[in-house]
Amino acid sequence: MNIAVLAGSPKGEMSITLHYVKYLQKKLPEHEFRVIQIGSQIRKLENDAAAFQSVLDEVRRSDAVLWCFPVYVFLLPSQLKRFVELVFARYAESAFVGKYATALTTSVHFFDHTAHNYIRAISEDLGMNAVAGFSADMEDLLKPACRDNLVAFAGNFIRTIADRSPVEKVFVSINSDVPEYKPPEIPDVPKTGTRRIVLLTDAGEADINLHRMTDVFARSLPNAVDVVNINSLDLKGGCLGCCRCGESNICVYHDDLLPLFRDKLMSAEAIIFAGTIRSRYLSARWKIFFDRMFFNGHAPVLMGKQMASIVSGPLRQLPNLRQILEAESEMGRMHLAGIVTDEDADSARITALLKDLAARLLRHVEEHTPVQPTFLGVGGHKIFRDLIYELRFVFKADYLFYAKHGLFDYPQKNIRKRLQTGFFSLLTAIPAFRPAFYRMANSKMLEPYQKVVDQA
Ligand SMILES: Cc1cc2nc3c(=O)[nH]c(=O)nc-3n(C[C@H](O)[C@H](O)[C@H](O)COP(=O)(O)O)c2cc1C
Repeated sequence: MNIAVLAGSPKGEMSITLHYVKYLQKKLPEHEFRVIQIGSQIRKLENDAAAFQSVLDEVRRSDAVLWCFPVYVFLLPSQLKRFVELVFARYAESAFVGKYATALTTSVHFFDHTAHNYIRAISEDLGMNAVAGFSADMEDLLKPACRDNLVAFAGNFIRTIADRSPVEKVFVSINSDVPEYKPPEIPDVPKTGTRRIVLLTDAGEADINLHRMTDVFARSLPNAVDVVNINSLDLKGGCLGCCRCGESNICVYHDDLLPLFRDKLMSAEAIIFAGTIRSRYLSARWKIFFDRMFFNGHAPVLMGKQMASIVSGPLRQLPNLRQILEAESEMGRMHLAGIVTDEDADSARITALLKDLAARLLRHVEEHTPVQPTFLGVGGHKIFRDLIYELRFVFKADYLFYAKHGLFDYPQKNIRKRLQTGFFSLLTAIPAFRPAFYRMANSKMLEPYQKVVDQA
């Protein structure tokens, strides 16, 4: 079988994920895994039509595509996201149509599911037969059992291609048309508030709905808004994955990102992210921005701020993207005041939602509304906590932040709970005690809650 491996890591040949493919090349020599570097070559692919065409030619003459990339910030690296955009923008879908596709990622299993959902949905959009991918922990290749799983996964994929097995489509196709948003003339509300509010947008000239929505939002807010268009920032490129920022949160790029963070975002009380949906996510420009925020490591440096989003595009059809936006808020420990989109045909309703968002955002700033995490925030925190503890020699700044803010909240540090657990473990080990334990368990468990209610 002839498999085109689209390699998305910006680290190119130094990619860990790529070494999973190299392993497959050795273990399955009867099949060809032809690696095409995308992540490290994105500038060339953007600017050199022949280089882009040669990628398409490789895909065309392959039996299947293997998307091979590290999970970056809930998704794939900005460089690979840009490639996806280019394929659609240059009407190059025909190179992919009808081929089988799957994904091989490495990560620490933090939102690898949203990354896999994404690439599977994109593969389906390209008319491919997309098969569930293989999400490896970055260290899995070092473990014999995991290596066997990897080879089994590749074997199954190859069998699927050989048998031309039917593949279930998982995601609905997206209707990207949104009605034109026609707001009425909105008078500027006097800017009497003194809150520091920053609105980041990537609106280009063609993003009329987004311009109108952010404009209505800013006019309705009785507080000045500092609007920053991220297209006007000098960003030297996407995150390179070098992790040199781990020591003291300084990126190897010297561009506008650090000053923006230092001078505006760190002191802001609310941040609004505004963007237009492109290829099932926000723009690749936004992805550069989010990936590059990794210079802060895993520390929620913007915690305590309010967050909101204004999105142009079919967000209701993209629960995966909504989950990512919600996870940005929960992991950043920023309360999400709301997300407004332009999907309603009724412009008056969108205007009302934007005005309401403006009012609520200010109220939340004043009340310091905290984020109430779900599994996204709680589960994510535990993964980061363990990772930073283990890799504290790389993520030194993270380690100091976590230690300072009490984020190493391991259960074994709670002495009272440990004693309690030890005591009950001993008791419940006595067979004669167990029936009495279960008889009393529910009422005893409720006692502290009842006390709180009684004392309220
Ligand atoms: C900017 C950046 C963002 C990352 N985001 C995630 C993430 O969201 N989830 C995750 O599990 N791992 C994340 N990682 C970890 C990488 O996925 C992991 O280290 C991967 O194995 C690197 O593979 P590579 O060497 O092929 O680039 C991130 C790493 C970097 C540098």
